[in-house]
Amino acid sequence: MQVCLYLQKKTEMKTRNNPFLLKGYVSKEFFCDRQKEVDQLFANVRNGIDTTLISPRRMGKTGLIYRFFDFLRENGDIKSIYVDIFSSRNLSEFNKLLAEAILLEFPEKTPLGKQFFEFIKGFRPLIGYDPLTGQPQIQINYQSDHEKEFTLQSLFSFLENRGEQIVIAIDEFQQISDYPEKNIEAILRTYTQNLKNIRFIFCGSRKAMMINLFSNVKRPFFASTQYLSLDRIEKYKYSSFIRNKFSESGIGITNEALEMVLTWSHLHTFYTQSLCNILYYIADNEITIDNVKMACSELLKRNEPVFYQYRQLLTSAQWNFLIAVAKEGEVKQLTAQKFISKYDIGTPANARRISRSLLDKELLLELQNKKETSYRIYDVFLSRWLENEY
Ligand SMILES: Nc1ncnc2c1ncn2[C@@H]1O[C@H](COP(=O)(O)OP(=O)(O)O)[C@@H](O)[C@H]1O
Ligand SMILES: [Mg+2]
Repeated sequence: MQVCLYLQKKTEMKTRNNPFLLKGYVSKEFFCDRQKEVDQLFANVRNGIDTTLISPRRMGKTGLIYRFFDFLRENGDIKSIYVDIFSSRNLSEFNKLLAEAILLEFPEKTPLGKQFFEFIKGFRPLIGYDPLTGQPQIQINYQSDHEKEFTLQSLFSFLENRGEQIVIAIDEFQQISDYPEKNIEAILRTYTQNLKNIRFIFCGSRKAMMINLFSNVKRPFFASTQYLSLDRIEKYKYSSFIRNKFSESGIGITNEALEMVLTWSHLHTFYTQSLCNILYYIADNEITIDNVKMACSELLKRNEPVFYQYRQLLTSAQWNFLIAVAKEGEVKQLTAQKFISKYDIGTPANARRISRSLLDKELLLELQNKKETSYRIYDVFLSRWLENEY
């Protein structure tokens, strides 16, 4: 009888999809909170303010953008366009991604899509659709730099002239700093600042670069946007989200186990989601602390190839520095005598040099609050792994 119940439960569970998503956005049902941020983004759009959205990687910026777009769809008729420019290396690739994003949002069959199709034909592009994803692909050939700038300006004007309100989110915006075109910031700023119907969300995870772009007096985007800094989800909100998602599938979780999930993952969204995702998969009726321990070590094991890769790319001094930070969990001053002598790091100058390069490689994360700055290992899995292995 016992066995029957158990089997029945397992099959029941299998009929549901894992509610802890590791990629993208499905619907608000699988999305925890962020109401304050959605409200702020909405207020900015309503008040004609562009937003600069910043957070460490994997905290939930892209998810928030999709959540916000979902909110816009539910609450009126503001249109939205999402462009991820991570893969772009220059202005013509930026144009391409923007045009493809417009086409994705306004397919050929819709009235706006038809107009866009007519418009884009003027640039004599090659248009195709990815056979696997169905995503539009546009290729435009340019004769000169001037043509690239003109195309960008035309894309914005096309959208502006529809007379409808549109929000454009440009994800991984810091990428433009690497474009070879020297004046790209000035061009973008000039074209975007006069648009009345279009509001922007500029999104990025390289904090120093983003702040330099938007807060440096000498640069075109200076003081043109409002910052929205995305922090960890509040603990009590994440706790109840996790408890509810398990309970909807008839799975319980002890307080102790839940506490460990949140502590182990530092409430860093992707890592918390990953741990819950695997727990959901291995869970029976109730998740205990032993289940959590098992899930953590399984996650670390799966990621080991990545850690070996890191080790190979670093000098032994850098690797030892990471181990030191992992052992401490969080370090307030990376050049403090106490810290460097405890871990044989050498002189403060050594510590400074090594930490700079690790920050630059995004292996160390700088955390700032009103009172102080501190440092952690960026990748929570790597941190937990180093802590255990050394
Ligand atoms: N509020 C949320 N609730 C649940 N899962 C989330 C939430 N925000 C993000 N995620 C998940 O966390 C992971 C990282 O989020 P993502 O938006 O890609 O981060 P970022 O863009 O900051 O790098 C993704 O797997 C995403 O599905
Ligand atoms: Mg992202």
